Amino acid sequence: MSHSTSPSRHPLPDASRKMDFVRQGFDAIASRYDLLNDLMTVGLHRLWKREAIRRLDLREGMKVLDLCAGTGDLARLAHARMRHRGLVAALDFSPNMMAAGRERGGTCIPDGNDRIVWTSGDACRLPFADETFDRVVVGFGLRNVVSIETALRETFRVLRPGGMLVSLDTAGPEWKGWRPLYMFHMEHVVPFLGRLFGGSREMYAYLASSSAAFPSPGELRTLFETCGFVDTGYGFRPRFIGGAALVWGRRPG
Ligand SMILES: C[S@@+](CC[C@H](N)C(=O)[O-])C[C@H]1O[C@@H](n2cnc3c(N)ncnc32)[C@H](O)[C@@H]1O
Repeated sequence: MSHSTSPSRHPLPDASRKMDFVRQGFDAIASRYDLLNDLMTVGLHRLWKREAIRRLDLREGMKVLDLCAGTGDLARLAHARMRHRGLVAALDFSPNMMAAGRERGGTCIPDGNDRIVWTSGDACRLPFADETFDRVVVGFGLRNVVSIETALRETFRVLRPGGMLVSLDTAGPEWKGWRPLYMFHMEHVVPFLGRLFGGSREMYAYLASSSAAFPSPGELRTLFETCGFVDTGYGFRPRFIGGAALVWGRRPG
């Protein structure tokens, strides 16, 4: 983990302020979030999200939680992957991100079995009973929570035995030769695009700081294991280059 003090990074808010900072930040950029995601990843986040959903090994009729759902890309993909026969809960704590997601559809599809249920809540205190879900997916979410370990333990609690968690998040480059380019992108291009299109240089500078402070995929995998997950693994995306990574694990049973 690196904690650079580069002036182009936003200092990370301390734990007591982080929740409000993150919620207000996402509320402020909600209407432009999807556009910015496409610009900053040159559309690659769409491929990574599809891969995260494939890795979930979904079947019709499953109950799936999209944690830190934002505008609900992963929730919609999961729902489609189950041929619209399953239940997906999309949980977030930013009202504006959820409102933007609802506008894109999938609030409640009119056949009684087919539903995406938007739920307001904190990833570290999930409003669900133990062993509710067959699968949990979280996209670019763990980086933003106050305690990754608490969120993982909560996820473990709401997963049924045998259930799987897949996380997609930013990661440093796997091939170190890419590091200067990656750092330039994170510290200059992303905040610049954020200011130009998102109206919030601060929020996109925070993306660079929070990514730098986020555990590497290997470290995150170890944290999964500390929280009880088994059959864990990870993979950088794009392969051999990095910038993002998938990390997965299963609740034993
Ligand atoms: C970077 S966005 C990711 C959205 C979506 N998952 C995606 O992949 O495009 C992070 C989302 O996590 C939400 N979030 C951050 N911390 C949270 C928490 N503690 N509880 C619930 N949602 C949270 C934010 O409101 C935001 O919508």
